[in-house]
Amino acid sequence: MNYPKIITKLPGPKAKEIIERDSKVMSPSYTRGYPFVMKRGRGAMAEDVDGNQFLDLTSGIATCSTGHSHPEVVKAIQAQAEDFIHMSGTDFYYSVQSELAAKLASLVPGDGPKKVFFGNSGTEAIEAALKLARYHTGRQDIIAFFGAFHGRTMGALSLTASKVIQHRRFAPLLPGVVHVPYGYCYRCPYNLKYGSCETACITWIEDVLFRRDIPPDEVAAIFVEPIQGEGGYVVPPVEFMQGLRRLADKHGILLVCDEVQSGMGRTGKMFASEHFDVVPDIICVAKGIASGMPLSAIIASDKVMDWPPGAHANTFGGNPLACVAALTTIRLLEEGLMENAATVGAYMLEELWKMQRRYPQIGDVRGLGLMIGIEIVKDTEKREPDSTFRDKMVDRLFEKGLLILGCGANSLRICPSLTFTREEASVALELIEDQFRIGPDRS
Ligand SMILES: Cc1ncc(COP(=O)(O)O)c(C=O)c1O
Repeated sequence: MNYPKIITKLPGPKAKEIIERDSKVMSPSYTRGYPFVMKRGRGAMAEDVDGNQFLDLTSGIATCSTGHSHPEVVKAIQAQAEDFIHMSGTDFYYSVQSELAAKLASLVPGDGPKKVFFGNSGTEAIEAALKLARYHTGRQDIIAFFGAFHGRTMGALSLTASKVIQHRRFAPLLPGVVHVPYGYCYRCPYNLKYGSCETACITWIEDVLFRRDIPPDEVAAIFVEPIQGEGGYVVPPVEFMQGLRRLADKHGILLVCDEVQSGMGRTGKMFASEHFDVVPDIICVAKGIASGMPLSAIIASDKVMDWPPGAHANTFGGNPLACVAALTTIRLLEEGLMENAATVGAYMLEELWKMQRRYPQIGDVRGLGLMIGIEIVKDTEKREPDSTFRDKMVDRLFEKGLLILGCGANSLRICPSLTFTREEASVALELIEDQFRIGPDRS
């Protein structure tokens, strides 16, 4: 392994030129943290336009699941492009679309026949699930969670409650959406302790929300990320997810699991819901499903997906290039990458828990498989969030050749491709530990 290898000052001359042009013509709403300009990539190695080679802990935000430009994915896309690139699956048939639907239907938890609807992005999957939940139940209201990120189109944005900047000046959002606290035990919103809390985050919905605010028989769905992604890679306790399932069953509410970030093998199982032994009514996937080709899907039982022709559709969803990329991705996940995510992820978590004992700035380490969050605090006792140190670390790590992103207010997220090796993991851990050794004060 001969990367990371930094050979220029960052950004290098070519990167500088591209960034300059970019700043003139690209929407200022994008959130670029540091000046990485991609030229090419292989596996977890990402090279910039000046020849600097980085170790990539981001995989394009948990999307390039098989690594950058996996040769088999590339081959499948090329072969499909030779035949045809597009033929609107809304109006016509092509084999790879239903082949992928059948594969996804066979993979999701739960018995019985399933149906699949395709979109192009995570937010579109959420829009589809939102519409389907209302259509199927004939009810209006939706419950979502503080800290949730479900996307940025109007419906999905209404379910998102991650950062205020995402809502500012976009109101009015969708009516009928209520946010409630998530099972975030490190910062319990009820100031209780896991083990003696009697899952207050579930009972509050039943005892307060359903008695004082919204009638449960008007709630169409509960939307939940089995692991909150943008909110800080927060893993809730098993009782939380199972409690939601019970609550939904009791009141005829649909449980919608947003597995856009946590799905497709990232956590060491195909879907994070499986870790909680929970069968969702609708499951939403995107990001890692097609190794970076734009694709999303919602999967539900045929009883739930009961809308008629014309009720929902789009032009590009389930595009043939994306479908073959997804079929190849899933095969690679099943042939070993998902297992690799479990093994390398467990190794990283063990090492990070040891690191946590050495550095008081590591408040919490949590995750499943290769979806790992490190929460940075001023000290372990008071748990005061340290977003400044987190941001500094992200910048300094870039200088050292490690691409990493933050999540939540003060966490680092580790979401490399599922090809990530133990050797790559050790190098990444060493670079991260260096930052804790240096500490927050050096600029
Ligand atoms: C859990 C979750 N849902 C939905 C989305 C929205 O996906 P997209 O950015 O593809 O619209 C994201 C994106 O980060 C996500 O993490």
